[in-house]
Amino acid sequence: MPYGTVQADTGLTNPITTLSLRKMKAEGIKFVTVALYDAPMAAMARKCGVEVVLIGDSLGMTVLGYDSTIPVTMEQMIYHVEAVKRGNNKSLIMGDLPFMTYATPEQAMENATRIMQAGAQMVKIEGGAWLAPTVQMLSERGIPVCAHLGLTPQSVNKLGGFRVQGRSEEQANQILADAQALDEAGADLLVLECVPSELARRITESVSMPTIGIGAGQHTDAQVLVINDILGLTEQPPKFSKNFLVEAEDIPGAMRKYVSDVKNGVFPDQEHTFG
Ligand code: KIV
Repeated sequence: MPYGTVQADTGLTNPITTLSLRKMKAEGIKFVTVALYDAPMAAMARKCGVEVVLIGDSLGMTVLGYDSTIPVTMEQMIYHVEAVKRGNNKSLIMGDLPFMTYATPEQAMENATRIMQAGAQMVKIEGGAWLAPTVQMLSERGIPVCAHLGLTPQSVNKLGGFRVQGRSEEQANQILADAQALDEAGADLLVLECVPSELARRITESVSMPTIGIGAGQHTDAQVLVINDILGLTEQPPKFSKNFLVEAEDIPGAMRKYVSDVKNGVFPDQEHTFG
């Protein structure tokens, strides 16, 4: 049966909060995140039941044509957070802090404030235990934080490319320790990008905050994909992504298929997972 036209609207009716997401983790209910950048896609995400919408700094690559996320500015992030917020008042709206805008806790507080005032309900920052004081500072002042470990694209030059992280025992233990430090500091969510599935499972079981995987296998509490990948717009798609439009009749159908495949544990399968 095609997904686009005949399925009932499974749209969100109540606003999603940090508490809803923790409850879903506790009850073993998978939730769905999409990285997207504009009002119509944000409205569609609400109608398709996407619990978390991320305005990722991936917009530097997916929308603006840069070859990394490093050139993205606060002004660009704010412009897109405002647009997404206008399109969706039910999903939890999360905005990235771009490269070098949270190098110190004070800088993080100033820039996180701007993202929150643009309409986000949570900010996302990339990095390990060194960010624990920043997470604690933001969290204590009422700004929820999503941490991001594994492949952290803002550090692409340090990592030597867009590569799977945590394959060695030493690296895996470091990522696990980072996750625990950020959890204890008060982070509300954790994105795990491009890590082996088994490591993502260990982390998910050892932290209180829900985990969101991208290229991290099926054991995380949630999944995230970039809208361009869901719709087959990426010229060289990464191994972990999937074009859901080929199995759907239209764009809303592709998003619904992604949502139902995540919730039913169909996506990600082995083909889209790193061992
Ligand atoms: O910027 C982004 O879209 C992201 C996701 C891929 C997790 O960080």
